[in-house]
Amino acid sequence: MLEQKGAEDFGDGSTADGVSQPTEFGFDAQSEAEIAEHIKKYPPGKQASAVLPLLYIVQGQMRRQTGSAWVPRVAMDAVAARLGMAPIRVYEVATFYLMFNTSPIGRHHLQICRTTPCWLRGSDAIEAACREVTGITGWHETSADGLFTLSEVECLGACVNAPVLQIDDDMYEDLDHDSTVRLLEAFRRGEKPKPGSVTGRLTSAPEGGPTTLTTLQNQGPPPEPAPPLPAE
Ligand code: FES
Repeated sequence: MLEQKGAEDFGDGSTADGVSQPTEFGFDAQSEAEIAEHIKKYPPGKQASAVLPLLYIVQGQMRRQTGSAWVPRVAMDAVAARLGMAPIRVYEVATFYLMFNTSPIGRHHLQICRTTPCWLRGSDAIEAACREVTGITGWHETSADGLFTLSEVECLGACVNAPVLQIDDDMYEDLDHDSTVRLLEAFRRGEKPKPGSVTGRLTSAPEGGPTTLTTLQNQGPPPEPAPPLPAE
């Protein structure tokens, strides 16, 4: 599921995959504050450990400033300079992890989980709904209106509420075809529906509500702990 996105610079601001790259990048005030919080977690000389959060901060700043959450090459260089790393080490990280977009995407990133639990629970219907609403036919393509980019991803770690669709940084769960259509239409109107189960499931409780530990708070104080084992 890894996409090796070309980072070879041809010297004209474009890269091997034809991405038009900005020539300048500077961290804004919000990013600087977030960067300071992360860097101080590490002892002197170990700041390179903050490369993942810093790339994520870059992606968030690009979303705020351009409407597209991605990490340009020049921003990877800015991260490398800030952390005292060789730029190639930052490129390696940014191109390895699928959550970093190294080319522009639409305003909303739709990431469909199609791993076995979600597939068994109907991810094909989620994909069909996404394609109907957006008109996107391939993967990692952006809709003509620039609103949506559609990607296929591996397990998102929420299998218990499958099938799951991640939109930007949030998870939407227990979806079917029609609820996915309603969800995407809401995003198209500029709304942001509450993340989580779209059926109202309480966290990962069974359908119909919790079946265990339902009366714990009415059972009085917890039992006394067992006495220690006698010495031999
Ligand atoms: S298989 Fe889809 S969230 Fe795990």
